[in-house]
Amino acid sequence: MPVDFYSKLVNARGVYTFRDFVLIPGRSDIEPSNVDLSVNLTSKIKLKLPLVSSPMDTVTEADMAIALARQGGIGIIHRNMSVEEQVENAKKVKRAESFIIRDVVTIRSYQSVSEALDLMQKNSISGLPVVEAGDRLVGILTRRDVNFADKKDDVKSVMTSDVTFAGPNVTIDEAKKIMHQHRVEKLPVVDAEKKLLGLITIKDVYSRERNSLASRDSEGRLLVGAAVSPHDLERAKALERYVDILVSDVAHFHNVNIIEAAKKLTKQVSTEFIVGNIGTEEATRDVVDALGDKIAAIRAGVGSGSICVTSEVTKAGAPTLFAVAQIGQTLHDLGLHIPIIADGGIRAAGDAALALAAGASAVMMGNVFAGCAESPGGLIKIGGEYYKPYRGMGSISSRQKRFALDRYSQPSKGIAEGVEGVVPYRGEVQTVVEEFSAGLRASFGYAGAISITDLQSKANFGVVSAAGVDELRPHNIILPGEEKI
Ligand code: IMP
Repeated sequence: MPVDFYSKLVNARGVYTFRDFVLIPGRSDIEPSNVDLSVNLTSKIKLKLPLVSSPMDTVTEADMAIALARQGGIGIIHRNMSVEEQVENAKKVKRAESFIIRDVVTIRSYQSVSEALDLMQKNSISGLPVVEAGDRLVGILTRRDVNFADKKDDVKSVMTSDVTFAGPNVTIDEAKKIMHQHRVEKLPVVDAEKKLLGLITIKDVYSRERNSLASRDSEGRLLVGAAVSPHDLERAKALERYVDILVSDVAHFHNVNIIEAAKKLTKQVSTEFIVGNIGTEEATRDVVDALGDKIAAIRAGVGSGSICVTSEVTKAGAPTLFAVAQIGQTLHDLGLHIPIIADGGIRAAGDAALALAAGASAVMMGNVFAGCAESPGGLIKIGGEYYKPYRGMGSISSRQKRFALDRYSQPSKGIAEGVEGVVPYRGEVQTVVEEFSAGLRASFGYAGAISITDLQSKANFGVVSAAGVDELRPHNIILPGEEKI
């Protein structure tokens, strides 16, 4: 069949990027503080803020995931580590906070005070429920009980036997009320036979109130996701009990082998699964055809990442904004409501607002979060300024760890698709998220939108010419620190 090369060139579609657009201000009666940024990331996961951290080894391990979930987003633990390490990271997030602690450390009444003290110290806890065979609650031992006791005494002689406890369906408000009434800081949760099911601490209740934005599961534990290769069923199986979401972590999901692997994986794993990355109408149709309702959300964007040289090296790319719009339009045409996560190239809140306006439900960021205190890696001082390391998962040094090598397709394994360097230190996740949230609220205010869905229906895009890009940044002014330039 003859191919019309010339018309392929002249009729090529525009693959727009964040820099190509602005949001044209609209009539507004919205105050930024009233904007609701909450979103359903998947049908099961609701976030107060549409922010997700990238599964990259200089971005998301447990500390980042904890910090971001406390602020209302969610972190996706990277997979450039052993299965055991990744599971451990997920567990750490789940242990960080909970309404009801399930793996309670307990003691028996015949054990000694000295053993109790050891247990308390080893686990950094200040109270131990006392149980007898069958985990039946018979008392509680707090620091107050053991502080002045003889270390050789047995637990039974010093424990509080008249324990205040709650039933299995206790709510957080009821628990708080009981603890206040009885002046206790620890509340064991038991079933009808007084079998110990869990423990509520006043510390966790207060922490929950302080972080009202936090992303939590039904037990009050922080939400966390983990990256997997669709080929790695073993990893997915090991993680499924400990994470709220599994996220496909391949650069080109629109590949028949990968789609087939994902099909198998989603049949054997019950945790919701986010597919990606893809960036075209054709990919969306194929993925929907193959995986249907197994798709919890779609990671959109190929080639826009700040550390990405995929487009430079291979000339393949579906920039994030283009990808979001393509996928969004296709899903709309198919009558489907699958959330889209805009992944790559987001430098500031304005880019995130564009992505949400174009159809995304949330944005995934690597660069922005890599600069935070909670990302892996220490501070680096260069010329009096502080930086943090940041590298692509396809960079040479990241590939040396080998666990995530299959992010890229077979032929590209010999070439690097990412670079490594440093990014300016931005402070704690909380500061960065607050900045982002304020920026998003301001954008929504200009657009006259009260929520993400409202923005998607009201947003008007303006195209910026290549010459105009300069005018939309600070210009004709020498900024502090740039005096010599
Ligand atoms: P950033 O926030 O612009 O830095 O983009 C982060 C995103 O880039 C990640 O979420 C991945 O989708 C993508 N990414 C990560 N590592 C690489 C790489 O080595 N090459 C290309 N893209 C990458």
